[in-house]
Amino acid sequence: MMKRRYAEIAGWGMYVPSRVVPNDTFVTMGLDTSDDWISSRTGIERRHLVAPDEATSDMAVRAAQGAMGVAGMNASDIDLVIVATCTPDHVMPSTASIVQDRLGMLNAGAMDLNAACSGFVYALATGAAQVESGRSKNVLVIGADELSIYLDWKDRSTCVLFGDGAGAVVLRPAAEPGLMGSTMGSDGSGASLLTIEGGGSRVRTNRNGVHPNGHANGSNGAHDAPMNYLRMNGPQIFRWATQIMPRAAEQVMAASGLKPEHISLFIPHQANSRIMEATAKRLGLPKDKVYSNVREYGNTSAASIPIALCEALKTGRVAVGDYLVLSSFGAGLTWAALALRWSVQIPTHVTAWQPIRRQVQTRMAAVRSVLRRGDRAVRTQIDRRLGKGD
Ligand code: COA
Repeated sequence: MMKRRYAEIAGWGMYVPSRVVPNDTFVTMGLDTSDDWISSRTGIERRHLVAPDEATSDMAVRAAQGAMGVAGMNASDIDLVIVATCTPDHVMPSTASIVQDRLGMLNAGAMDLNAACSGFVYALATGAAQVESGRSKNVLVIGADELSIYLDWKDRSTCVLFGDGAGAVVLRPAAEPGLMGSTMGSDGSGASLLTIEGGGSRVRTNRNGVHPNGHANGSNGAHDAPMNYLRMNGPQIFRWATQIMPRAAEQVMAASGLKPEHISLFIPHQANSRIMEATAKRLGLPKDKVYSNVREYGNTSAASIPIALCEALKTGRVAVGDYLVLSSFGAGLTWAALALRWSVQIPTHVTAWQPIRRQVQTRMAAVRSVLRRGDRAVRTQIDRRLGKGD
């Protein structure tokens, strides 16, 4: 009989931008708010925001390099890259393809997955299924978002909540269960509760000219048009989140044969400390089993759970044999949860040559990418001269 194949997390990494913005900055900007209001209602004290030239793929690449370093894998070992994001670099190509090229993963398929803040857990479940089925061997799963570029800095009810960042894990095959039960859900009837309406095919805010069908193709180049701002009904999302996060966690615990007393660490989506506390209470989990870093980063969307996982690992909150539950919610509406048994030793230090090796590999990937572009351009010229491809 063929042995069942499982998936486990073999490496992990995170990246947050260096620019730290404390709550007081919003008061300085003239918003009618206060550090006290923000920290007492949300638990957030500061967030990290991207530099003007920093795109989602830049953060994703940094997190991925860390994850591959811990896993001891080279770019050529990865079969599939999934980037969970709702703030991709472009509508197309996918951010995953940009990451694949930047890291020189020549054997990897690449795709983005948009389930907003639930995206990383969706991507983890999808990547695990690929590994378990034998369709992929090693899968790089990244959660990366920079919602700050879609925020209305005059709307105090949203702009204080979010931060930017990325987190990544590498999945590999295992003989024993690493990733266990998972659940994914959606209720699109709540789509309008949390939305960035513009930029897609329904609300056309960023196109020029006239469509061949005769209708105007949308207003001109307005990335900062109101339709491109994140809008949210906070109180309704709050109420729903306190119900759906524990429900999703309960489902995966039941499917994995786990009871609250088995759980060493619960990692909820980091949106609001009050939502996390209400969820833990419903699950019957004591405070010390719930990981929270919302104070430092705010809500980093698809990056929130992998960043929290990385920090939990770094601070010694996870040991081999521990059972962890991840649970998330987000725009869509979407939710997802996943249970896992931690199965790999946690390195206590990074060897000096790891960052050097990483830099060399990234440089080599950049050179290879330039050569491929050059090769494509030369072949196009030759084909043209020979009259091919017309
Ligand atoms: N500073 C000061 N006052 C603020 C404020 C801010 N940053 N944001 C909102 N307020 C005000 C409101 O305008 C309202 O004033 P009013 O009573 O005069 O109308 C008052 O505070 C209460 O607003 P309310 O929205 O009921 O507050 P709340 O306790 O529900 O907290 C959120 C608001 C947004 C923090 C909370 O609803 C929340 O966290 N929701 C979930 C959001 C979330 O997780 N989104 C991401 C999903 S992935």
